[in-house]
Amino acid sequence: MGPRPPRTEPRLVKKPDPKPGARALKARVKKKRGLKASSRRWLERHLNDPYVHRAKADGYRSRAAFKLIEIDDRQKLLKPGARVIDLGAAPGGWSQVAVQRIGSDPTAPTVVAIDYLDMDAIVGVSFLKMDFLDDDAPERLLEALGGAPDVVLSDMAAPTTGHKRTDHIRTMHLCEVAADFAIQVLRPGGHFLAKTFQGGTENDLLTRLKQNFASVHHVKPPASRDESVELYLLAKGFKGRQDERL
Ligand SMILES: C[S@@+](CC[C@H](N)C(=O)[O-])C[C@H]1O[C@@H](n2cnc3c(N)ncnc32)[C@H](O)[C@@H]1O
Repeated sequence: MGPRPPRTEPRLVKKPDPKPGARALKARVKKKRGLKASSRRWLERHLNDPYVHRAKADGYRSRAAFKLIEIDDRQKLLKPGARVIDLGAAPGGWSQVAVQRIGSDPTAPTVVAIDYLDMDAIVGVSFLKMDFLDDDAPERLLEALGGAPDVVLSDMAAPTTGHKRTDHIRTMHLCEVAADFAIQVLRPGGHFLAKTFQGGTENDLLTRLKQNFASVHHVKPPASRDESVELYLLAKGFKGRQDERL
């Protein structure tokens, strides 16, 4: 590994208030015609969310960046020199954090991100604008990375339809496809982190992960809102592919 490239992305100086709900509400959104009560509540929560303010101040593209920061501070997934695949990356908060922590080389990026939405370029990230569920996505990701990843991250979430059960099933499907991908491509010793929902992880998936990783558990970082059913599934220490384990 060569010298670490200059830091091109913002550094987290101080952790935001870990209990956003504990702060008194400041901004209020006036009751206007055309804005549903639920949208008004969302907007008020967003305007008063310390993670949103901190993300802006620190140059992160999303408050989601803090979820990965908090998980990685505890779990140490992103080691300098590691290769990372970021599934469902837009607008790019997780990719920014990955670049900082592994020290991705701007001239030969070791972070590859994919999303079907546009994402503004990030120094140290190769971005593929495509659907991860496309048949050729796995091959394209590996090609862009130039080898097997040490870490597969997935913050993919299906677009909300307003029907909770449907949204839940779609996001769980993304989590399962991401897990299968991780099992097929990770380097031995690698890690897999993916968004899931409380009570959503199917037993089959847990069993498959437990067979393939040294440890499997759920994590809920403080930046993930208490009222949200969102959770992260963390599988550490990939054992290697079955046929290579002899
Ligand atoms: C919660 S956002 C990710 C936020 C990101 N981690 C960050 O820190 O900025 C979820 C993303 O998953 C993407 N997504 C959902 N399904 C996808 C798919 N099949 N292929 C690629 N991206 C997908 C969405 O377009 C969305 O941008």
